[in-house]
Amino acid sequence: MLETPHHKYRPFAPVNLADRTWPGRTLQAPPTWLSTDLRDGNQALFEPLDVDAKRELFALLCAIGFKEIEIGFPSASRADFAFVRDLIERQLIPEDVTIGVLTPARGDLIDRSIEALVGARRAIVHVYNAVSPVFRDVVFRKTKAEVMAMAVDATRRVRALTDRRPETQWVLQYSPEAFSATELDFSKAICDAVVDAFKATDEARVIINLPATVEVATPNVFADQVEWMHRHIARREAVVLSVHPHNDRGTAVAAAELAVMAGAERVEGCLFGNGERTGNVDLVTLALNLYTQGVAPGLDFSRLDEIARTASRLTRLPMHPRHPYVGDLVYTAFSGSHQDAIHKGLCAQRPGAPWDVPYLPLDPKDVGRDYQAVIRVNSQSGKGGVAHLLEAHYGVVLPRRMLIGLGAAVQARADETGGEIAAAEIWRIFCDHYLKDSETVRYHGYDLDTRADGHHVRLRLAIRGRVVHYEGCGNGPLDAACRALPGAIRLCHYEERAVRAGSDAQALALVEVADPEDGQTVMAAGLHENLVTASLMALVRAWAGLALSAAIGAETGPHAVLGADGRA
Ligand code: KIV
Ligand code: ZN
Repeated sequence: MLETPHHKYRPFAPVNLADRTWPGRTLQAPPTWLSTDLRDGNQALFEPLDVDAKRELFALLCAIGFKEIEIGFPSASRADFAFVRDLIERQLIPEDVTIGVLTPARGDLIDRSIEALVGARRAIVHVYNAVSPVFRDVVFRKTKAEVMAMAVDATRRVRALTDRRPETQWVLQYSPEAFSATELDFSKAICDAVVDAFKATDEARVIINLPATVEVATPNVFADQVEWMHRHIARREAVVLSVHPHNDRGTAVAAAELAVMAGAERVEGCLFGNGERTGNVDLVTLALNLYTQGVAPGLDFSRLDEIARTASRLTRLPMHPRHPYVGDLVYTAFSGSHQDAIHKGLCAQRPGAPWDVPYLPLDPKDVGRDYQAVIRVNSQSGKGGVAHLLEAHYGVVLPRRMLIGLGAAVQARADETGGEIAAAEIWRIFCDHYLKDSETVRYHGYDLDTRADGHHVRLRLAIRGRVVHYEGCGNGPLDAACRALPGAIRLCHYEERAVRAGSDAQALALVEVADPEDGQTVMAAGLHENLVTASLMALVRAWAGLALSAAIGAETGPHAVLGADGRA
């Protein structure tokens, strides 16, 4: 049992921001996205990406639509330096994409980072230093003034070096690392000093990036911190306000969304939430969250599974089956009541109408999935799931009463096996229950003659091995067959369907007959390329299921004619 940890963990101090505005806002437009997959993401891998993998991931990020991509930490790694050079020298950076590199606020490392970027059309030099009390007091043993001086010196150096290379359009980005665990007035002071030192203007803005380096509080606290900065930064017009949430508390997505409502214009993160520890904020989830609110995210995730497969292969990180939007199971319902609601919702959904399907916040088709996996059947499922699979895989809609019977049989099978029941198995169970001749009565064939007085049918059945012919006349083949069969059965229900089982479509006839004596009803089906044949097969099977058919096994009444050989 964990003791209440008052003595060990302290609650995070709230921000004094009584007139906060973010709670009343909604997201209306996407932020500028920056992918840090090749930097923060890469730093967090067991095996960092090699150059080929980096190139492939860079191309994927460009194809998704990222316009700002942080491509490495060239002052810290030769491989990163070589990769930056490779992209620039081989001209692999699209015209509309800006690359960025991260550098600590140290002179020699800044020099090396800018050296890596020489020749780029446009580049972001991303300088950071940690500013929170624990870094100042314990890690670096520096005063606030010294920490601020580091940032300002670094900024001046970037300015001086980049001024000497006007062929590149340079952008300074500054991150007060551990911002979310730092006194707000100190963060503001240091950011203001950086903006001044760089001589930022509203045309040449500095990116001030606020990291939740470790997520230490609830998302509303982060939103307050961002709104506070948004309102207090001295030269807001000369700043692009950016956030960089990590997911230590599992709320990075919420933190990023609230931060944008609070004034952030740019969000840094990784695909599928890769990144240090619990990850950077997941840009896929953020983008698709926007999409489901009717806001075009500016990133293309219409082939999400392909993107996920590539990202997983390159990072060697598996995708959790319940990962938002992309997990294998996120569009799947096993429970009966969910399936029933989804099935009804999908049936009611009209093309072009607003998406309104219970339990599915996103149309799976929008991210390249189909509806086949939406409903999967196991012992927790109900007839809704069975109905959906039959319709999705075979194009068959069963009458409700037949579905109830089939649902019970499928459930019994699932209880027996304890596993999932696939569509093909449901179809087999259906065939076993409704498409099989009984032991005693077998359908053999028929002759049909259409005359002026109606349809004459001669049914050939084998009853307990003896061939029997029944003849009748009616206003249609089915009516004639009903009249031919002994017992004066009543046809209470008839439906026909086209079935997509195998390559050819076949006719499926569904009938329900009643014994007029005791009201007992039986349902059965017939499947044949000829609709009349399918209907008569179904009728014979239903009739055979009635108790009266057992009693008339040796029937030789007015309708019956024994076959020439008397045998099947
Ligand atoms: O998480 C963090 O603080 C960072 C900074 C270097 C931006 O990755
Ligand atoms: Zn980070």
